[in-house]
Amino acid sequence: MQIIPDKVPRHIAIIMDGNGRWAKQKGMPRVLGHRSGVKSVREVTEAAAQVGVEYLTLYAFSTENWNRPPAEVTALMSLLVETIKGEIRDLNKNGVRLLAIGDIEALPASTYKALMDGIEKTKNNTRINLVLALNYSAKWEILHATKLLAEQAAAGTLNPADINEELFENALSTRGIPDPELLIRTSGETRISNFLLWQIAYAELYFTPVFWPDFGKEELLAAIASYQNRERRFGKISEQLV
Ligand code: IPE
Ligand code: IPE
Ligand code: MG
Repeated sequence: MQIIPDKVPRHIAIIMDGNGRWAKQKGMPRVLGHRSGVKSVREVTEAAAQVGVEYLTLYAFSTENWNRPPAEVTALMSLLVETIKGEIRDLNKNGVRLLAIGDIEALPASTYKALMDGIEKTKNNTRINLVLALNYSAKWEILHATKLLAEQAAAGTLNPADINEELFENALSTRGIPDPELLIRTSGETRISNFLLWQIAYAELYFTPVFWPDFGKEELLAAIASYQNRERRFGKISEQLV
């Protein structure tokens, strides 16, 4: 797959979907699909770093995912703890800085602790930022930001007339992270499922039928190649773009 080095997105966000169906197709329990998904996370993170992506955001657990059967939720939380703890050495070896977005303080204590530990221990890495969206939903994030600003306004430290895009973005959990230029969703579903609604306002969308456990380097490069073939006009007309 031919990639144009100076047209690689700075930020790619991925809705990692299809673990359950991947497992079911193989006659295995859903949890094994999630376990197999970890391998894809490793491979895609490394491939993204190799081509120069600065931020890779992965949707790992949505606020809606709490509504799954309790056993699956518990298994996912354990897998998270186990994976974060087990990967810290390799993250450091590969220059990966771990970050998180979402209502992470509301995660089970052991998950929260493992996550904070991973973030702390990888904070000096600079090759790529791996942002995990955990207990995340875009509506939660936007409401949370709105409340923060409203509190400041009520306290008299913020003039509502001063609220602009930049100020609002600084109240989101993605503060400091550039908007994704490319959003990928695996598994054939063509919906956003409450992910990064503000930040993907101008993202290029890429949908693939491949289930997440089968998504790897080649699939990522294909998505980047598709992105590079698009004309991003931002409201202008073709002739205005140089
Ligand atoms: C994505 O795979 C992982 C999470 C949402 C945690 P799914 O578990 O949604 O897999 P499908 O969509 O049921 O196949
Ligand atoms: C979106 O996938 C959330 C994550 C990938 C973590 P879901 O499988 O939960 O989304 P829906 O239910 O198909 O919209
Ligand atoms: Mg799904």
